[in-house]
Amino acid sequence: MKLYVDTANLVDIEQALDLGIVEGITTNPSLFAKEPKSDYIAHLQKIVDLAHKYGGTQSLSVEVFSADPKEMIVQGEQFVKELNYPHLRVKVQVSYKGTSYLNVVREFSQRGIPVNCTALMTPVQATMAAAAGAKYVSLFYNRIKDGLNGFEEERAALLGAGVVDMTDFDPNNVVRETRDLIENYPNAEIIAGSIRNVLDVKYAGLAGAHIVTVGPKILNQAMGHYKTDEAVGQFLTDFAKWLSTE
Ligand code: E4P
Repeated sequence: MKLYVDTANLVDIEQALDLGIVEGITTNPSLFAKEPKSDYIAHLQKIVDLAHKYGGTQSLSVEVFSADPKEMIVQGEQFVKELNYPHLRVKVQVSYKGTSYLNVVREFSQRGIPVNCTALMTPVQATMAAAAGAKYVSLFYNRIKDGLNGFEEERAALLGAGVVDMTDFDPNNVVRETRDLIENYPNAEIIAGSIRNVLDVKYAGLAGAHIVTVGPKILNQAMGHYKTDEAVGQFLTDFAKWLSTE
């Protein structure tokens, strides 16, 4: 399981990359909206500069911000041209309000522009994205669970039409089944996003996610443990005592 950081904040990205274990950066328009207003490409360029500063091998996923297929292609091409970053992936939503964007995924993929197909909730959506050529299929771990809250009519419609069953609201099951179903697309990797705590990281990884993308807070939390503190404190104290013994 590889770890990516999920943020558009430059300080957080630098801290995460400085850990030396983070192999990629994922962003989305809502994460950008948390940052002070600026030019999208200029801010992305700063992220690219940070990636270069830390080796320049990290994957960077940048999302389009349109629901119009033609505009999406133009935006993706602009990211590729202006950022000129060799590990750029264009993030494309799988669908929106009845419109599928698999043709956009296909178009980018055929042009050799790797796609991170995002906002995936079911194994079948993810498999179709992989079939369209997506390099990454991003399953939204906690939003999959959230699918059981509210949306009574919409959920009943999907259940009634045989689009989903109740197991499609269990993110570990969704990740596991996706891993099996995309076996024929060996170039596609599962990213588990929408991660809210350290245990989500563990369970998503165990379920078969190739990559888990997490906010900076979770990266820091994952490293702390009171028994680690106790052990290290004891070592430091014992050694300091020994050094000061005549
Ligand atoms: C992944 O690429 C997404 O940025 C992400 O994790 C979105 O999840 P959230 O909006 O539920 O946090």
